Amino acid sequence: MSIILKRSHMCGDLRKEDIGKDVVLNGWIAKNRRFGGIIFCDIRDKSGISQIVFDSTQTDENLFQLAESLRSEFVVGVKGKVVERSSKNPDLPTGDIEVICSDLVIYNKAETTPIYIKDDDNVDESLRLKYRYLDLRKKNMQDNLKFRHKLVKLTRDFFDENGFTEVETPMLIKPTPEGARDYLVPSRVHKGSMYALPQSPQMFKQLLMVGGTDRYMQIAKCFRDEDLRADRQPEFTQIDLEMSFVDVEDVIELNERYIQRVFKELMDVEVTRPFRRMPFAEAMERYGSDKPDLRFGFELKDLTELFTDTDFQVFKNAIDIGGSIRAIKIDNGNVEYTRKKIDKLIDMSKSYGAKGLVWIKVEEEISSSVNKFFDQDALRVIADKMEANSGDLILICADTNKVVFDTLGFLRRHIAGELGLLDDSKYELLWVVDFPLFEKDDETGNYHAMHHPFTSPKEIDLDNLNIDPDTSLAKAYDIVLNGVEVGGGSIRIHDRDVQQAMFKAIGISDEEIEEKFGFLIEAFKYGAPPHGGLAYGLDRLVMLLRKESSIKEVMAFPKNQSAQCLVSEAPGAVDAEQLEELGIGLNTEK
Ligand code: AMO
Ligand code: AMP
Repeated sequence: MSIILKRSHMCGDLRKEDIGKDVVLNGWIAKNRRFGGIIFCDIRDKSGISQIVFDSTQTDENLFQLAESLRSEFVVGVKGKVVERSSKNPDLPTGDIEVICSDLVIYNKAETTPIYIKDDDNVDESLRLKYRYLDLRKKNMQDNLKFRHKLVKLTRDFFDENGFTEVETPMLIKPTPEGARDYLVPSRVHKGSMYALPQSPQMFKQLLMVGGTDRYMQIAKCFRDEDLRADRQPEFTQIDLEMSFVDVEDVIELNERYIQRVFKELMDVEVTRPFRRMPFAEAMERYGSDKPDLRFGFELKDLTELFTDTDFQVFKNAIDIGGSIRAIKIDNGNVEYTRKKIDKLIDMSKSYGAKGLVWIKVEEEISSSVNKFFDQDALRVIADKMEANSGDLILICADTNKVVFDTLGFLRRHIAGELGLLDDSKYELLWVVDFPLFEKDDETGNYHAMHHPFTSPKEIDLDNLNIDPDTSLAKAYDIVLNGVEVGGGSIRIHDRDVQQAMFKAIGISDEEIEEKFGFLIEAFKYGAPPHGGLAYGLDRLVMLLRKESSIKEVMAFPKNQSAQCLVSEAPGAVDAEQLEELGIGLNTEK
């Protein structure tokens, strides 16, 4: 066992003011190079690096030899004196100094690492995830973890100051109604029965309100077995809140103060309150999305009425099926968007259900993919409706409203990205409000709650409790930052009759209610206060504030695209005995 040199400073903290001090640093060898009789090493810990010098003309021979044996990622302790550097490195916080080593302990050697420990190394993501413990040595990763910790701390402090109590809720529960697929855990004691891992603490936080907790918060782990995307992980963390005796305005006001504080303290950015608000219907009409990115324009315009009598089959079909014809205009887009590039956009649009796109390049002489069907005058009418000038590109989609919104919503953001308009120093915060209470499943025709079935309708006639599934709005709100839904919540139903009416409207049978939510309905018999809340996606919030493009960058051990943990190789096989104990047989043929 080697001795451990007791650390006096962190590697990234030494400055000019420390010149002349004797210091001890512990860390990893980040880099070592030799110039004749001098060895320079960078030593790294989570705070940064310092340069260490071994000069053969001044250093003890044994020490110099030991220094010669250093390789990247060896773990060392270094004792030495801080001196001014002759050739300063202005790019490095410690670039004014170096440490002349007088004692060196090698705590551990390291084999050549499978990935470089370098922030901008473009190594394959699966290698990064497999060797995550090496990847985490990178400065950016450590900074992300620190930032995340600071956000969690600020969050706990803020809500504590505002009368919230953090309460842990169970992980082994009955399925929650959040709408994604559950992760199931078989019960050994109750063979054939399963627990579900929580998709959110939703029902428990409502029970806490019945239990008189008044204001609850939790940094809560949630599990959802859904298809993964850049901002989705199967296992993620929510900042989860619930409050008693509140309405929409109370929840929004408190959360605006919270977000304002996050920006002020962690980003040194002033955001003004109140934040913008936009009804869901307007967000869809103008941006084709319920989480619009407001950092740039390219708003959608409805052109349907121009084509009520059209013979052009594509447009006619859209109108016949009750859909619409809408367009976006890309200012000065004609040069950038060649035919080839437009074809690419069309290709990508297909994954949103679009069968094609009509393009119109506005110039002196307008060119278009529908020249055959529309003459110059007709094209000019479209251009005028779009307020397009010479040089502008118009992209039109005609289909069901859903396909049109999804396609154009995607295109406006994708094109903004290609044109470099996603300015990450801008923060556009927005509340999307007035969501529909229900969503219709196009395939089955069934309705289901858009948020969850405990969400209160915006207005309800308490005498006849009629809820119209097509038009009813919800007391639900999402908070959107630069086109990402960072949080969402609602005021809940606390009245049993309203809750029954809600279940009836979506056609849930009494047995199903009893089976799924019986315990919550039961609890509501005994005095449920009016209540509501919200949950933020903590990972998403950190991702945006750290200007990362994937949620994986702000999680220590994320899953890959196929929901595997490449470090531990989960999920893994279990032995026959374990399965036997659980009363489970595997159908391995499927
Ligand atoms: P919701 O389902 O909208 O609401 O989730 C709240 C927030 O959690 C984040 N989020 C995710 N983040 C990463 N990976 C995922 N798979 C993922 N899914 C969701 C989003 C989202 O806005 N119980 C309600 C909240 C409430 O009503 O109070 C709920 O869970 O940022
Ligand atoms: P076609 O008649 O199939 O040659 O289509 C004429 C033009 O309409 C082409 O530019 C297609 O890309 C475009 N198009 C096809 N389907 C749609 C649609 N649903 N919405 C908008 N444009 C479409």
